[in-house]
Amino acid sequence: MSNDAKNSRLREMRTLARQGGGAERIDAQHKKGKLTARERLDLLLDRGSFHEIDAFVASHNGEAGAGTNTPLGDGVVTGWGTIEGRLVYVYAQDFTVMGGSLGEAHAEKICKIQDMALKNGAPLIGLNDSGGARIQEGVVSLVGYASIFLRNTLASGVVPQISAILGPCAGGAVYSPALTDFVFMASGTSNMFVTGPEVVKAATHEQISAEELGGAAVHAEKSGVCHVAAASESDALYLIRKLLGFLPQNNMEEPPFLPNDDDSLRQDEELDSLVPDDPAKPYDVKDVIRRLVDGRDFFEIQEGFAPNIVVGFARLGGHSVGIVANQPAVLAGVLDINASEKAARFVRTCDCFNVPLVTLVDVPGFMPGTAQEHEGIIRSGAKLLYAYCEATVPKLTVILRKAYGGAYIVMSSKQMRGDINLAWPGAEIAVMGPDGAVNIIYRKELEKAEHPARQKAQLTTEYREKFANPYVAASRGYLDDVIEPHETRPRLINALEMLQNKRDANPHKKHGNIPL
Ligand code: HXC
Repeated sequence: MSNDAKNSRLREMRTLARQGGGAERIDAQHKKGKLTARERLDLLLDRGSFHEIDAFVASHNGEAGAGTNTPLGDGVVTGWGTIEGRLVYVYAQDFTVMGGSLGEAHAEKICKIQDMALKNGAPLIGLNDSGGARIQEGVVSLVGYASIFLRNTLASGVVPQISAILGPCAGGAVYSPALTDFVFMASGTSNMFVTGPEVVKAATHEQISAEELGGAAVHAEKSGVCHVAAASESDALYLIRKLLGFLPQNNMEEPPFLPNDDDSLRQDEELDSLVPDDPAKPYDVKDVIRRLVDGRDFFEIQEGFAPNIVVGFARLGGHSVGIVANQPAVLAGVLDINASEKAARFVRTCDCFNVPLVTLVDVPGFMPGTAQEHEGIIRSGAKLLYAYCEATVPKLTVILRKAYGGAYIVMSSKQMRGDINLAWPGAEIAVMGPDGAVNIIYRKELEKAEHPARQKAQLTTEYREKFANPYVAASRGYLDDVIEPHETRPRLINALEMLQNKRDANPHKKHGNIPL
């Protein structure tokens, strides 16, 4: 064969590989409102940066299992490229090839990319669109999943791992995304479930659609599996690009420093009146966050799940930070099971990727009630305590208003290795709110009182003046300072810069035993 002929054979094979499942199936994919694997990679990565490998890999089980249908690539496109010039490894399942189902070769391609991401210290992004284990390949496809899960786990806390669910993701397949740091879902075209509607119907006689069982809204609001529910596929891919800007390439690096034109010394006078005096009055803590951070830009994570706590990324003076804030606008910002777990997970994500934590506190306590107790709020609250205690990144805390009881402790208090703990002048730090406290400590007096309501009001005022203010905590150094709200942004930025070279470590161990 001449060199020309050899080159032309290569070109033909490349064309064949790029066709995936062929024009008809690509058309069907588009008709479902979905893009192809390659179109997705084009949107995700910097233009022209994608380098594909293993395009010529085909099913090893063609004859035995998948018949003659053994397209090149085996239903997944793998390689690397850049996002804002930074290296990322990617895989994108190709639904047009056997429904993106995962056979042996398909799994080996993903594992190869996972190994490269781990060894070379760059994020891994998986675009999932698959019918799950390839039925024709039987146990080898199950083994393929096991190999992927192992690598997800080994890479956890070493390189950021991001999953986008852009089609079906069913059965055991859900556990690879679930093991990664962030799960993005495209609304309307993606779903995730361990057992699909048919199995649910057979097992429980429940009739439910795929969307109702495991669509983006369900996982973003009810289960908490989804971190970001995007309006569309292209939105999901754009948001993944944005998220990576807050994260380092791996656990040995710092997150990117991106100076911008928002003045580090900017003071926001509106903050002085944004939080109502009355500790029972709600307000939206996201207004506070946006006024503090660079360019009002806040990338919220798990927005729809446990909205009584707010978590997400932002920049302060160009430094990437993770923000955790109680949300008085929802359930008075109480800490319940879901809020505790959401925040605990976020704190650990920030800690493993060297993102400093800023905690904004306005919390009435842990949620009371049989349901919460019986479902394990003790275990969940302990997760949040554990996460904050073990975190060694710079930890800045600002108490905006109330911080009562165990919730004061858990929200990054000084004795849990808070680096800089500040409070606004209206902060109330106490074992419990004045109302409850007066009821308990003055019960007998109030029973005997001639005008119980009047006396209670007076005792409540006395209690508030004596205990529920920031100065008792400040007098003991539990707070480093009390500041006016408008000073907060420059003070936080100054503290972050002061803590730039912070070094702290936990005792050497195999791993801790977080109360899961
Ligand atoms: C082989 C599969 C496949 C699979 C789909 N296909 N799923 N091939 N193995 N698991 C093929 C179809 O035969 C079809 O081939 C093509 O992909 C497109 O599928 P359609 O059914 O036409 O598409 P659609 O109507 O969009 O439905 C998509 C779907 C459905 C909802 C994903 O295909 C489906 O329910 N598939 C089975 C899902 C499932 O139960 N998987 C096993 C889960 S258990 P042609 O040639 O006609 O185009 C599991 C265990 C993992 O994954 C355990 C790990 C620990």
